[in-house]
Amino acid sequence: MNTRVIQMQEDQIDQDLLADAGQVIQQGGIVAFPTETVYGLGGDAMKEASAAKIYAAKGRPSDNPLIVHISCPEDMKQVAREVPESAFLLAEAFWPGPLTMILPKAERVPLATTGGLDTVAVRMPDHAVALALIREAGGFVAAPSANLSGRPSPTLAKYVIEDMDGRIDMIIDGGDVGLGLESTIVDLTGETPMILRPGYITAGMLEAVLGKVSMDQTLFCGDCDTAPRAPGMKYRHYAPRGELRILCGSREQVTAEINRRVTEQTARGEKVGVIAAAETAGYYQAASVKSAGSRQDEAGMAQALYRILREFDEEQVTVIYSEELAGEDTAGGLGAAIRNRLLKAAGYCVEYITG
Ligand code: TXA
Ligand code: MG
Repeated sequence: MNTRVIQMQEDQIDQDLLADAGQVIQQGGIVAFPTETVYGLGGDAMKEASAAKIYAAKGRPSDNPLIVHISCPEDMKQVAREVPESAFLLAEAFWPGPLTMILPKAERVPLATTGGLDTVAVRMPDHAVALALIREAGGFVAAPSANLSGRPSPTLAKYVIEDMDGRIDMIIDGGDVGLGLESTIVDLTGETPMILRPGYITAGMLEAVLGKVSMDQTLFCGDCDTAPRAPGMKYRHYAPRGELRILCGSREQVTAEINRRVTEQTARGEKVGVIAAAETAGYYQAASVKSAGSRQDEAGMAQALYRILREFDEEQVTVIYSEELAGEDTAGGLGAAIRNRLLKAAGYCVEYITG
């Protein structure tokens, strides 16, 4: 398949090109597009065949449900059987924005879109190109992140091209995304709202609107007996090609141990990469040392993480050591999102270095 790549920035929307893209989706094709979180791979959410094409392009298991992207909050009523008051309150507070809500599925949404589930994930993204595309496409665009299954989510169009060229109809290049980590997912179908995937919208922000919010604690342990509630969170995801390991402990112990292993692995012929905070990046001697930014700037770290993982792939790094970038935040702040994605990228391979 020949993949058409077009350029479109948020402040320069070309209506003709956008109409083309919308038509591709309406006719059952697949278009990758920018959002404020990561690039998405969009198809018509109301067409079973489109979901199948998305799964095929991603190489993704078809039991992993897709998020339905809408362009106005009212459209929740079209995809959900019933919309609780809490959903309208959250929409009012955070949409357009990086928040996905799980609601009971309406009959008309095909089970292929929801991976066979009786619930549906809905989000209104905060990106002018995405919103305009959704409208042109008929209002309901099913879109997972635009990476091949298992690879880091793309924060730049060049990574979408790398993974999807020849596999989909069109790619809209809108430049760098703003946030760099996928949306927060909150399940509103149970008694207490539950965060299934941490992100930029934190537990505290949700609690300010809803009162008590709980957190799916399986997100931080690799060998829990219970599966995470968002089916997609169970897969080893976001993974770079090199083997990634996270080392935790005091700053002195971690830097010394990483440097010791870098020397050892380099002598074995491995190409070694290190992910560090800006404060400590200068301590390492490895073939490739990447700073994820200051520990004081979690938003900057979130923005950098997937790009760094992809850059290691480009440099053909074979072994990667990472400092723990965000502490033991399991309470649902942005630190929790960074920690959760880094853990997943490492396949939960974490070592605690003690004296
Ligand atoms: O920021 C984002 O959300 C990006 C952009 C493109 O919008 N999209 C994204 O989609 O991250 P994806 O497919 O990579 O991740 C969707 C996650 C998966 O973990 C999936 O299992 C979960 O949402 N999910 C979708 N529908 C669900 C449902 N009905 N119940 C529970 N989890 C659901
Ligand atoms: Mg994804």
